[in-house]
Amino acid sequence: MDKLLIRGGARLDGEVRISGSKNAVLPILAATLLADGPMCVGNVPHLHDVTTMMELLGRMGVSLTVGERLAIETDTKDVHCLRAAYELVKTMRASILVLGPLLARFGEAEVALPGGCAIGSRPVNLHVDGLRAMGAHIVVENGYIRAKARRLRGTRLVLDVATVTGTENLLMAATLAEGRTIIENAAREPEVIDLANCLQAMGARIEGAGTDEIVVHGVERLQGCEYEVMPDRIETGTYLVAGAITKGRVKVKRTRADIVDSILHKLRAANAEVKVGEDWIELDMHGERPRAVDAQTAPYPAFPTDMQAQFTALNAVAEGVGTITETVFENRFMHVQELQRMGAEIHVSGNTAVIKGVEHLTGAPVMATDLRASASLILAGLVAKGETLVEKIYHIDRGYECIEEKLSLLGARIRRVVGGKR
Ligand code: EPU
Repeated sequence: MDKLLIRGGARLDGEVRISGSKNAVLPILAATLLADGPMCVGNVPHLHDVTTMMELLGRMGVSLTVGERLAIETDTKDVHCLRAAYELVKTMRASILVLGPLLARFGEAEVALPGGCAIGSRPVNLHVDGLRAMGAHIVVENGYIRAKARRLRGTRLVLDVATVTGTENLLMAATLAEGRTIIENAAREPEVIDLANCLQAMGARIEGAGTDEIVVHGVERLQGCEYEVMPDRIETGTYLVAGAITKGRVKVKRTRADIVDSILHKLRAANAEVKVGEDWIELDMHGERPRAVDAQTAPYPAFPTDMQAQFTALNAVAEGVGTITETVFENRFMHVQELQRMGAEIHVSGNTAVIKGVEHLTGAPVMATDLRASASLILAGLVAKGETLVEKIYHIDRGYECIEEKLSLLGARIRRVVGGKR
């Protein structure tokens, strides 16, 4: 299994291009199931999760062509299998995103129930309840969600929790439902807006995406369109933290500053100089050690749970004591034990980690448990004294495009160790 070998100590300095957003492209690819006609999705990141989604759609009969300039062309005219098998769903929970589109367009869907995962129990009850309220007949048996509906009916849905993929699933389902659907307490994440923009380009009638009340007027059919996926805000934040943790200077390009406000706010609090332009952000530590920051995760526009592990690593080498509180997932501190093995002083109590910055971390073999935990271990490895070997990096390949190439271009000493060879 591949590993990443990092020799810490290099101060990052340079520019890096941000890829298309993982959490936007996955629902958008699922939305191609709604299109009556060919569709072209651009700025697609080359990620393992994207390959999984393509495999999922391919097995259903969607024809997929990887075109020029990071584009994927899709056509649903030969769809014949309305099923997402456990074998794929267990490797990627976002597979649940095909449930709404399949049901809305083809009147039937069979999607394996995703199990627990490394960051919490992560149920999908709100996806199922919402579709039921829209008139779907759904049974959960043999580990599968089996859903049927002649045509979904618009209704008023109030989500107990502002779930991101739940909102996306229901939004997609509502586009082809009869009448008006109102989704209250909808997730406001930029990826929901990106999906809504794509659906609108396909002919959907949607108001309020990006607010907590989304109104969808169902239409009879959606056509294909060309759509460019938004930049990845978590990749953006991760490279900025890489600059901060190494006391360096990093300019991220082809991104958007307006979707990372809460992250920039924390980086400035960590004593970074941050400048923003139309499609770039530049962070400069001027060779200074970062200051520890306090952060509490919450749904957008608050500080994202997907940046929590990276800021834990930043605090681990910062000046002072920082407190990180996780409120979105119940078990997202798996990286802490690994950071402690590198010499970090972290005390976890309930959902709060109190981190006392140390002068130096020391390199160690560490194991990644989920995508963002892996990112935090890599960040820690960039500043640790000596070598850090990050194992189980298939997690990182799920969500960060060419991470070792991008970090190398910024001056990091990092390389992939294929199989057991060093
Ligand atoms: N929840 C329920 N019932 C549901 C759905 C969610 O109780 O039916 C709860 C969850 O257990 C959790 C909270 O609601 O406590 C929020 O979870 P949400 O459903 O919003 O998460 P998600 O849609 O499964 C997406 C991202 C995650 C990101 C979260 C939170 C995608 C594909 N995944 O997950 O991304 O952490 O939103 O922002 O969009 C990642 O990229 O590393 C990642 C995990």
